Amino acid sequence: MRYLVLNWKMNLDRAQSILLARSIKALQQQNKTKTIICPSFSSLHDVSRTIISSRILLGAQNCFWKNEGAFTGEESPKMLYSLGCRYVLIGHSERRLLGETNKDIEMKIQTLTNTKSSLIPILCIGETKDERNTGETVSVLMRQLSILRHLALKSIIIAYEPIWAISTSANAHGALQSEDCAETIVHIRTILRSYTNKRFADAVPILYGGSVDKSNVKDILSKTSTNGLLVGRAGLRFDSIKRIHDAMI
Ligand code: PGA
Repeated sequence: MRYLVLNWKMNLDRAQSILLARSIKALQQQNKTKTIICPSFSSLHDVSRTIISSRILLGAQNCFWKNEGAFTGEESPKMLYSLGCRYVLIGHSERRLLGETNKDIEMKIQTLTNTKSSLIPILCIGETKDERNTGETVSVLMRQLSILRHLALKSIIIAYEPIWAISTSANAHGALQSEDCAETIVHIRTILRSYTNKRFADAVPILYGGSVDKSNVKDILSKTSTNGLLVGRAGLRFDSIKRIHDAMI
C-alpha cells in the first residue's frame, strides 16, 4: 500500500478545491494507492462531500490538542472527524516555523491517540540544510521522534520532509537525492524501533515529502523504501497530480 498525500496548504478557494477534488475523484483509484487530500479548513466540508463514495480520503492540515473548550479559533480532532477527516498533518515545518514546539506536537498526538474514533496523525519531521551539512540529520530526527516514546500509539504515519527540500521554503534546494532519502528512511525506521516496539515500528508507513513532482517521482519511488509521498506544490494542478498518481501504480 502506498500513500499519496496532497497538502494544499493555504491555497485554493472553495470552488477551486471542489473542482480539483472532482478531477482527482475521476482518476481511476488503484487499490495499491491511498490518496489523501488535505485542503484548507474552509474547504473541508465541500471536499468531503465531493469525494463521498470514492476511495479518496480526507485529511486536515492541523488540529488542536483538546477536543473541546474555550480555545478560540482552534479545531478539535473530534470536530474534524465529524467533517469526514480521517487523517491530520501534525508538526509540518511551516507550523513549527510559526512557533509550534515538540511539546505541542506531543500533546496533539496524545489527544489523537486517546480519542476514540479519531484521526490518524501524519507526523512531519525533517532537518534544515545546515543540520544536514553538519551531519546532524539523525540526531534532529531522533529528537523530533522522541515524543513517541511515551505514547501508547495505535496508528501513525511519518512524513520525512527535509525543510530545505520543500519547494516553497526560503532557499529551497530541490528534492533530496534519492540515495540520501533512502538512507534517511532506514535511519527513521531504526529510530522508531528504539522508541516503540519492533512490530509496530516496522508497520509504520514512512512517506517522503519535499519538491516531489512528475520529474522525480519515479526515481524516489524506485530507489527508496518510502511508503508514499507528501506533495505540496505539485498537488495543486491536476496534470501533475495525474502524472504522480500514474507513476505510483
Ligand atoms: P512541496 O511541499 O511538495 O511543495 O515541496 C511539500 C510539503 O510542504 O508538504
